[in-house]
Amino acid sequence: MNKLASIIILLLLTISVTAQDITSLEKIGPVSSVQRFERGVVLTCADNSHVQITVLAPDLIRVRTVFNKSLPQRDHSWAIANTNWPAARWNLREDTSSILIATDEVEVVVNRSPLLIEFRDARTHAVVNGDQQPMAYDAKGLRKDSLFDPKAGMFVAAAKRLGFDEHFYGLGEKAARLDKRRGFFVNWNSDTPGYTEDKDPIYQTIPFYIGLQKNAAYGIFFDNSYKSYFDFGHSSQQRVWFGAEGGELNYYFFYGPSIKKVLTRYTDLTGRMPLPPMWALGNQQSRWGYYPDKMVEELARQYRDRDLPLDVIHLDIDYMLGYRVFTFNSERFPDPKGLTERLGRDGVKIITIVDPGIKKDDYYVFNQGLEKNFFQRRSNGELFVPKVWPGDSVFVDYTLPEARKWWGDLHKFYLDNGVAGIWNDMNEPSDFVDQTGQNQKDVVSYDEGEKTTHAKNRNVFALLMARGTYEGLERLRPDRRPYVITRAAYAGIQRYSTMWTGDTNSTWDSLALNIPMFTTLGLSGEPFVGSDVGGFMGRGNGELLVRSYQISFLAPFCRNHKEISGYDQEPWRFGTYYEDIIRKYLKLRYALLPFLYTSLEEAHRTGVPLFRPLVLNYQDDPNTYNLDDQFMIGDDLLVAPILKPDVVRRLVYLPRGNWYDYWTNKQYKGGQTIAVDAPLETVPMFVRGGAIIPTVAPMKYVGEKPFDPVTFSIYLDPNGTASTALYEDDGLSPAYKEGKFRRTRVDVRRGVRGFVIDVRASEGSYNPGDRKFNFLIPSYEHVSKVITASGDGRAHQVELK
Ligand code: GLC
Repeated sequence: MNKLASIIILLLLTISVTAQDITSLEKIGPVSSVQRFERGVVLTCADNSHVQITVLAPDLIRVRTVFNKSLPQRDHSWAIANTNWPAARWNLREDTSSILIATDEVEVVVNRSPLLIEFRDARTHAVVNGDQQPMAYDAKGLRKDSLFDPKAGMFVAAAKRLGFDEHFYGLGEKAARLDKRRGFFVNWNSDTPGYTEDKDPIYQTIPFYIGLQKNAAYGIFFDNSYKSYFDFGHSSQQRVWFGAEGGELNYYFFYGPSIKKVLTRYTDLTGRMPLPPMWALGNQQSRWGYYPDKMVEELARQYRDRDLPLDVIHLDIDYMLGYRVFTFNSERFPDPKGLTERLGRDGVKIITIVDPGIKKDDYYVFNQGLEKNFFQRRSNGELFVPKVWPGDSVFVDYTLPEARKWWGDLHKFYLDNGVAGIWNDMNEPSDFVDQTGQNQKDVVSYDEGEKTTHAKNRNVFALLMARGTYEGLERLRPDRRPYVITRAAYAGIQRYSTMWTGDTNSTWDSLALNIPMFTTLGLSGEPFVGSDVGGFMGRGNGELLVRSYQISFLAPFCRNHKEISGYDQEPWRFGTYYEDIIRKYLKLRYALLPFLYTSLEEAHRTGVPLFRPLVLNYQDDPNTYNLDDQFMIGDDLLVAPILKPDVVRRLVYLPRGNWYDYWTNKQYKGGQTIAVDAPLETVPMFVRGGAIIPTVAPMKYVGEKPFDPVTFSIYLDPNGTASTALYEDDGLSPAYKEGKFRRTRVDVRRGVRGFVIDVRASEGSYNPGDRKFNFLIPSYEHVSKVITASGDGRAHQVELK
């Protein structure tokens, strides 16, 4: 190696070290004065930096810091759903060295010099999270050269002490394992087809994580849409840090100590998923290249002829005329309304893809948007013209409220044609000219009149596009629940859209990412997730497809999808042996609908996802902290899929309690790892002792038949008790928001002889009519009893002997 080369390498090394070294940044000055306001304090620092600490709730504290200047009046974030918090009790104590803000649950201790913030449990005074160094900013521009847009802002960062045994979860969509400890991540929404493990960033930005140590969980939401970084002890064993290439150092601290409570608060702040139509839980089939209409009808027919349940077919970009959004290609789809009607009669709904790129061409969407001046422009006023599927295109400036409204209203076109849901793709936004964003650098967005940069707005583009879509659908069809699917996102996306994990590979490695990714998304506020079943790119096989369905049949979004040049992978493409197994799991999904829908409603109401890592239900059990090849649905169903070829046996960890093998009803004691058989026909599944699983007979599509009878399978805990609370509503309209639902609580206990089942008087005003309830205890050789449950929701008591 010559001298020059080694100097260059050394230089590169130094630069990359600097990029991750935040110790060299300027530290915030010591506190020089404290000003109290209604909900907290503003600290003025020696360097004229300002820190606003706000008590939003007893377990939710906001820290908002600006460096070298006063707090600006403007305080806006697209992620936040709730700014109106009821007053929470707190008090302030000051002494010469520190400032203490105490709520009923959290103590915030601010050391004055140097300025260090610590969060403690108000009851035990134990430190939950504390600064490792004062908040920092790049006053000297040390990192300028590594920023996406040095003109857009200054690098800001916070550093926290890394606990010796601290685990990290969340951060949204990452191609990574469940526990993020020791990982380093970047958030910059990017189109990354064929991504593999550790590819980072990918499509979404959810700058929220959960820390867990000594059974105490907290959350940190760094609400900053600039390119951001999270280091969970990757570059130093001392610290966790997060930072961004501009904006304020603005974060929210949530205190549990349970992960579930953190998630509920996080979704109080950023919003919850509204319930999608129940058929969104149905089986979905997609393929880039399904055209013309005859092929779509043939596909639906195949599904019905083969007795495979199906609710949705997706139309990818080829339905359009030259990729012009809000058009149909009239040769391929001469009568879209007729098509959706015919399919609809057999329970099949159509979802169309809608990309952000509008063809720059003389057609109504482009012309209207241009006339109204709704398109993104460069700083010199020129129209910004990225290249996407249609070639030269334009993007809407979704930060403009009128533009969002216009975009939403355009969807009348689809609704009039009977389209049932909208799939938003390429919304990072992807630009074939350059995927890093360089070509978009000088695009200016309206941003509430502030006229800000791509550096600030890139990561929220998809959030605002989905918002426009969702609000449009809601306006156009107020008696129906909108159903939107997105690829890119920012925190808060759950208010408007469900999501899928983009362009995966048809490989075992890609499949192994399903569980950590779905569970991680659930721990980041996004419960309605799924991945292309079978993988999107490359060539799969029957075994891979079956194993893929054995995960996705319980994922909220269950859609087989494939790229245009890939190999066919509809359920029957590898022969009847595989097809028969897939049928079994799809039917099981439909049988489990009452259970899945009940779990989905819990996610809607509490923010606690249905597709869970075990740590969410057993956070006091360290055996679960790294466990990401098993998952749970709700509290009750534990699933341990096979993630490698030719494997027919695996280890399964069962947490405390007692468990029942779903297939054999064999009982196991929890707190142990067992080896179980998993031939291709069987995915290991266990039901928690104490659970009751409500099921119905499988259907061709959701809503084909009413839930009648409902079978309650009872799995007793060691005390002989079990319970559930079945949730139901009309599955389609937003009336559930006004109390039109039914929650039926069922409790089982041991009686003098046999068991006593209490069906409690139901909650909510939805009346599904009289129907049969069938109670059985699978482990007692199917002891069962059928009753007629009254439509008015009266209580019933049943004896089971
Ligand atoms: C993107 C999407 C993929 C879709 C394709 C064509 O790659 O992620 O799902 O099939 O675009 O629209």
